[in-house]
Amino acid sequence: MAQVTKVLDKEFVPFIGKEKIAKRNQELGEQITKDYEGKDVLMVSVLNGSFMFTSDLVKEINLPIDLSFVKYASYEGTESTGKVKQLIGFNKDAVNGKHIIIVEDIVDTGRTMQALIQDLEDMNPASVKIVSLLFKPEALKIPMTIDYVGFDIDPRFVVGYGLDYDGFGRNIPEILVLKGM
Ligand code: IMP
Ligand code: MG
Repeated sequence: MAQVTKVLDKEFVPFIGKEKIAKRNQELGEQITKDYEGKDVLMVSVLNGSFMFTSDLVKEINLPIDLSFVKYASYEGTESTGKVKQLIGFNKDAVNGKHIIIVEDIVDTGRTMQALIQDLEDMNPASVKIVSLLFKPEALKIPMTIDYVGFDIDPRFVVGYGLDYDGFGRNIPEILVLKGM
């Protein structure tokens, strides 16, 4: 039987292990290094969920990149609220003329990405692409392309490796999925 981890009132089981994540990060890093050679890159990491992914991914990118953090909120519990608020932004000068790579932990409905991309487009970037560790294609409500995807997953609720359930579970070093979904 799979090992069960309790986060608050819910039970989670193993889903994507440490080694699989590390290998995929290496592949994504190599691809980004190739694609952005010679370009002026600003990576925009979306807090809080992508802190762990960002920290591992940037170590696999062999380019002089700039890195900045933003914070948006859309989730309460295990359901998307449908509303996205900017909690921490960034300044226009840092974005102007830069090739932006948004670093996200997971794209679900796409509302967070839509809000962030709209904010970025007013700041005159040279280009905007997205790297997301996880992507739930079936949950997507806003049509968009995720340029670099770690893993496509079914629309199930996951925690760990930065992702939380009501604020907890972020420090679990691998990705777990809600039991029985
Ligand atoms: P979206 O705006 O609906 O695409 O949701 C994106 C944000 O919701 C992500 O950055 C996560 O913080 C959160 N989220 C979406 N799905 C999950 C999940 O399965 N577990 C934990 N957080 C999630
Ligand atoms: Mg997030």
